[in-house]
Amino acid sequence: MGLRLGLLSTARINDAILAAAAESAAVEVVAVASRSEERAAAYARSHGIASSYGSYEELLGDDEVDAVYVSLPNGLHAEWAVRCADAGKHVLVEKPFSPRVAEVERAFDAAERAGVVMTEGFMWRHNPQTFRLLSMIGEGVIGEVRLVRAVFSFPLGRPEDPRWDPALEGGALMDVGTYCISAARLICGEPTDIAGFGTANVRESDPGGGLADVRAVDSRFAGVLRFDDGALATFDCGFDLPGRDGLEVVGSDGTLYLTDPWHARSPGVVVQRGDETEHERIEPTNSYRLQLDDLAEAIETNRPPLLGRNDAVGQARVLEELLGA
Ligand SMILES: NC(=O)c1ccc[n+]([C@@H]2O[C@H](COP(=O)([O-])OP(=O)(O)OC[C@H]3O[C@@H](n4cnc5c(N)ncnc54)[C@H](OP(=O)(O)O)[C@@H]3O)[C@@H](O)[C@H]2O)c1
Repeated sequence: MGLRLGLLSTARINDAILAAAAESAAVEVVAVASRSEERAAAYARSHGIASSYGSYEELLGDDEVDAVYVSLPNGLHAEWAVRCADAGKHVLVEKPFSPRVAEVERAFDAAERAGVVMTEGFMWRHNPQTFRLLSMIGEGVIGEVRLVRAVFSFPLGRPEDPRWDPALEGGALMDVGTYCISAARLICGEPTDIAGFGTANVRESDPGGGLADVRAVDSRFAGVLRFDDGALATFDCGFDLPGRDGLEVVGSDGTLYLTDPWHARSPGVVVQRGDETEHERIEPTNSYRLQLDDLAEAIETNRPPLLGRNDAVGQARVLEELLGA
């Protein structure tokens, strides 16, 4: 039997992990926990999962669970990452880990104390498309990298979605903006200067005629990062914009462009140099399966996961600066 994974919550994103585990020879989903026992039991039944629990704590007490997937709303990630590690479970924490460096450090301290693997769930980093982009940059296909432009937006309806809730650390930056930051940092390193604006705290009239903060998370955010070597990255993201995905890396001699950088459903790299444009296609691969296989292999072979402490701390550092978190 491979790595026995437990799901912390009945989140929608679990569907991607369940499908990935079904494809993986290394990982099996064996348990699910919910705040509601009935919901957990129904979820386990409909998804063919062996065990269900009516609290997250109970799942952490299950000896048949080796690793936990934390698919809770953002504001609960760091706390439950620590609790998983303290319970001796390896842990895959959905992005964003936390917008506070100290919380990320605390969670990785707990993981190191417990001798468990901890990793942040940026599935896009595992896709061959991302590695191909990096290898093209490394081979000098576009010369010296000077500018990165990243975008990720989609219209988020569902007013009840936790991503609209400031108490659960929602907001466009925390949700889709984190991919853009992840990309800029992957390509350029850690930024020396970090700036940006969101639409947070948009004031609208309340029924009493005064002004009230009706929406305290950002529904849109635009940022700029500057790096030691002079490279710049700009990004924008939003929940009140049409669906847009893109990653452009502009070098001294040309441009690399990914039209589908985050989901990589139709992966490929567009290379533009002078008047010439080439499109290199890449075989589609399930990023979530690669992410699970990476976790399983890191545990099995005692090697670090693709995304470890440094990456999660780097992400949090940028978010902390942008949000003043
Ligand atoms: N990597 C990716 O591709 C990707 C894609 C989407 C989302 N995500 C990340 O995955 C996480 C979950 O996102 P999602 O959209 O799938 O979540 P969701 O469907 O809104 O579900 C979140 C789950 O958390 C549990 N929960 C615990 N406390 C809660 C509270 N106070 N309010 C609401 N739910 C609460 C609920 O499960 P129970 O009621 O069963 O306990 C709920 O089903 C987020 O951090 C998001 O950033 C990642």
